[in-house]
Amino acid sequence: MTKRVALLPGDGVGPEVVAEARRALDALGLQLEWTELPWGSAYWREHGRMMPEDALETLSAHDAVLMGAIGDPSVPDHLSLWGLVLEVRQRLDLWANVRPARLLEGVPCPLGGRVATDVDMLFVRENTEGEYSGIGGRAHRGLAAELAIESSVFTRHGVERIVRFAFEQAAGRRRVLTSATKSNASRFGYVLWDEIVEEVAADHPDVRHERVLVDALAARIVRDPASLDVVVASNLFGDILTDLAAAIQGGMGMAASANLAPGSDATGLFEPVHGSAPDIAGRGIANPAGAIWSASLLLDHLGEVDAAGALLRALEDVCRHGPRTRDIGGKASTREVGEAVAERAALSAAR
Ligand code: NAI
Ligand code: MG
Repeated sequence: MTKRVALLPGDGVGPEVVAEARRALDALGLQLEWTELPWGSAYWREHGRMMPEDALETLSAHDAVLMGAIGDPSVPDHLSLWGLVLEVRQRLDLWANVRPARLLEGVPCPLGGRVATDVDMLFVRENTEGEYSGIGGRAHRGLAAELAIESSVFTRHGVERIVRFAFEQAAGRRRVLTSATKSNASRFGYVLWDEIVEEVAADHPDVRHERVLVDALAARIVRDPASLDVVVASNLFGDILTDLAAAIQGGMGMAASANLAPGSDATGLFEPVHGSAPDIAGRGIANPAGAIWSASLLLDHLGEVDAAGALLRALEDVCRHGPRTRDIGGKASTREVGEAVAERAALSAAR
């Protein structure tokens, strides 16, 4: 059956890496029907908004969305993020942001003496509330009394579903769940979060769980990544920790993500963890690995489990043997890496 995939290249390096993810998907010989959506900062400059008014209906009419990144120096970041990325995650209720942080063989790790098997974490980030609930305001602009309030929102419903999902992920992996909060300094939201972790843990006696303060966890991710399996965190903490984890898996260009509403038939959205990287955009040197890996997660979501595995193996092969982009020690262009992955993916599809 033909699957409908929306392609949202976005800004900066987004179009460059998404083109390679699409190339790899097309090489697998599946029945995919593409719709390209020209939304983002260029759209904003023309229409005064990041995406059209019926954008959510358009996205929902697809089985999945493959996105690049949003953000351009010509548009304030809080407008571009809230005008598209955060709005879509919230309004489609894609409450689970799933980010594998695994060091692939052949990719240099910035931590001394670590090998691929030392870095294999799965981050589960709450994606619709917490510190990014969007509730707050500013008053008395420009006056000495100016103030800004940004509220964190933690609901029992929101926390319980993400924690439950994270326990389920851990049960299917090495059965260790680490929950990151800051419930010593922040007395309300994270304390509720901690309590819910204990409640849900009672349903998962097979999973060893621990509660770690996020600052200590940041240090541990660097010092002892092998001790971590699944990490569940709030929207803000998950955001920060996954850039750190991306660095340990070889850099921002390597990291992949899925935005999901597990247990529903909601359209999933798949994107590399990185932003639009304006510092390297337009030069053909961005690493497409995170985008290609995200495409593999997209195939999983579509139920194309064999193709998802074949694509990930093709990416692993290319990381192991090259070509590689310069951020991970090679000299190849974005396109050369994409073509190499697509070639291997096509071979495994033909088998
Ligand atoms: P960034 O992730 O775009 O870049 C951080 C660093 O990583 C830069 O040095 C960049 O060159 C490097 N990098 C990123 N992707 C790479 C790739 N594929 N290959 C090689 N190197 C890569 O984060 P930054 O600079 O903080 O943000 C840039 C813009 O992206 C901002 O407008 C920000 O708001 C937006 N952004 C958008 C996101 C999204 O659409 N989901 C997520 C994060 C940031
Ligand atoms: Mg981020």
